[in-house]
Amino acid sequence: MGQPVLGILTLYLNDNGLLEERPVYQKMIISGKKLGLEVFVFTPSDVNYAQNRINAHMYDAATQSWTRRWRSFPHMIYDRCRIQKSHRFVELSNFRRKYGHLTFLNRVLRNKWTVYKTMRKEEVFKEHLPQTRLYESSNDLMEMIRKYPLVYLKPINGTGGRGILRIEKQGASYSIQGRDQDRRIVSPQRVALSSIQSRLSSWNLKDNNYLVQQGIQLKLPNGRVHDYRMLVQKNGLGEWEVTGCAGRIGASRSITSNLHGGGQAIRMKELLSEWIKDDKATQDIMARAELLGVEIAEFLEQSYGRLCELALDLAIDRKGQIWLLEVNPKPAREVFIQAGERDTYRTAIIRPLEYAIWLYEQKKRRKEKLVPSTYD
Ligand SMILES: Nc1ncnc2c1ncn2[C@@H]1O[C@H](COP(=O)(O)OP(=O)(O)O)[C@@H](O)[C@H]1O
Ligand SMILES: [Mg+2]
Repeated sequence: MGQPVLGILTLYLNDNGLLEERPVYQKMIISGKKLGLEVFVFTPSDVNYAQNRINAHMYDAATQSWTRRWRSFPHMIYDRCRIQKSHRFVELSNFRRKYGHLTFLNRVLRNKWTVYKTMRKEEVFKEHLPQTRLYESSNDLMEMIRKYPLVYLKPINGTGGRGILRIEKQGASYSIQGRDQDRRIVSPQRVALSSIQSRLSSWNLKDNNYLVQQGIQLKLPNGRVHDYRMLVQKNGLGEWEVTGCAGRIGASRSITSNLHGGGQAIRMKELLSEWIKDDKATQDIMARAELLGVEIAEFLEQSYGRLCELALDLAIDRKGQIWLLEVNPKPAREVFIQAGERDTYRTAIIRPLEYAIWLYEQKKRRKEKLVPSTYD
């Protein structure tokens, strides 16, 4: 019996063959080998559809070099592709369609709006979801502004804190600030209620591209915003577990905490203790957040098909209430290195591999017994 083989499905970042996250995959390949799992990397354009073969990217730990080799299809696929506005993304959609019958560790989640609507149906999540609407016309924004002193506008397919606006009531007027599509800071501007719409005219808010969300007050005493990044993963027993949760503090003048936008990572306990001074309360919040993280992962897996990991952007308000700002299906793990949690980072790399091995064993056993699996 040969070894199980896992293919990491990714995308080239440009037309020159630059692979996203190659250093992370390198670590996964080395760790996989130690666990008895062979791992290679490929993109949809490396697939020869006629011959059902893949021109795989292989890493050789002995020579510390990457090479290419023709391979047959792997037993399992770990889909790491993030949304891209390019012909490569169209190719990816074709691949997912044609090979949808293969064993994927993780299926595709939908955009922020669809995920919100799915979660909203479940009673237990209601108190954790900031009120959110699709921006269909200026009415949607105006009604939210009337209802909440702080409102966020976010692209439904956005990532990394791009194209986000924050509108905050300040006395009789409003302050608008944010990050443009290139993540540049948009400095605060004060406007009257009647001028908000015209001030936003250069933003492409139409075409159901944006959502309007109740804002949570997350400014620390130094004026910076903060939130938490929780990584929930399946372990080697096929069960959901919280791998770690780290705090993020936004750059100065930033309305987002994303690390790529200059945010800093810090241990959760340290950040939370600054925000909520009662030790017992912080312990209680951390325990509740963990439970919530696992519940969300279980629920989304039931809704969208098999998943192996999710990163949740969580906010904790002054009262200790936990809010879910966003679900990330293709999480980076670097936040844990930056927060000084090397062990958590290592676990974050290894868990999907251990889960893949577990899944492979399950499938083998099922084949022997001919019992169909839940998600394929
Ligand atoms: N409703 C909100 N209230 C307060 N801050 C928010 C809200 N939504 C987003 N943010 C801030 O903006 C950041 C980016 O928003 P997010 O929804 O995670 O989009 P992205 O996909 O760009 O990361 C969050 O990490 C948080 O710092
Ligand atoms: Mg986010």
